Amino acid sequence: MSAEERRDAERAGEPMVSVERVSRVFGYGSQQVTALEDVSFDVPRGRLVALVGRSGSGKTSLLNCIGGLDRPTAGRITVDGVEVTALSERRRTGLRRDTVAFVFQTFGLVPMLSAAENVGLPMRLKATRTRDREQRVAELLDLVGLTQHRDQRPGELSGGQQQRVAIARALANEPRLLIADEPTGQLDADTGQAVMALLRDVIAAQGMTALVSTHDQGLMDIADATVRLADGRLVAEDDASFVGTGSRATGSEHQGRVV
Ligand SMILES: Nc1ncnc2c1ncn2[C@@H]1O[C@H](COP(=O)(O)OP(=O)(O)O)[C@@H](O)[C@H]1O
Ligand SMILES: [Mg+2]
Repeated sequence: MSAEERRDAERAGEPMVSVERVSRVFGYGSQQVTALEDVSFDVPRGRLVALVGRSGSGKTSLLNCIGGLDRPTAGRITVDGVEVTALSERRRTGLRRDTVAFVFQTFGLVPMLSAAENVGLPMRLKATRTRDREQRVAELLDLVGLTQHRDQRPGELSGGQQQRVAIARALANEPRLLIADEPTGQLDADTGQAVMALLRDVIAAQGMTALVSTHDQGLMDIADATVRLADGRLVAEDDASFVGTGSRATGSEHQGRVV
């Protein structure tokens, strides 16, 4: 067993994400906004967890802290056994390159690059060999059903196709955790449904863990569990789909549902 395999085996029993008493306050003085307050929950490995709550409830703030785009004001977050909240800016950039991938509501593609070039971008940043990169790009475009559209730029693709490019790009470096922030928010109902089904399938196929914020009942239904925020606090989730997902309750009871 290599050192890396040993480390993976040790981590296998731990949650992929652990959020402990996290708060995020923006601004100062009378301008202060408490986006998150004392939030705690775990995301077990290999699960798809939906993060729900009204606009302004703190979903984006929470996902940004977990993925290392932002830092909480208080509390501790670990991702794949690494304490994200203790990392330097540079190491958080490394985390986003190697461990975590984001999918955003607005797709976030580079307009000047083709679909294939967008998908290959994370591998360029990691200096993957050209031949390996080209092969993986072809596989990923095939996975999301866009082989025919590989040379088109984002502006020449529909919203659903753009989001599929973004999903393929997110998978490029084989992240362990996929974070998607309202990935179907800009899509019509049917396209959103198709993108959700794709997300669920690729997550399962790649053995990944995913945390996906959504307003979409369809996504809540396919998720293994749901975490609900209201005004920056976790609230108990009485969703029946939650039952029987191997969840465990930890932390103090006022913090609500722990996945
Ligand atoms: N950069 C910021 N500066 C000030 N307030 C912010 C910032 N980001 C978010 N907020 C505030 O924090 C709260 C939660 O926002 P957000 O996390 O975006 O919620 P959601 O994604 O659920 O809509 C809102 O009141 C929002 O206005
Ligand atoms: Mg948001």
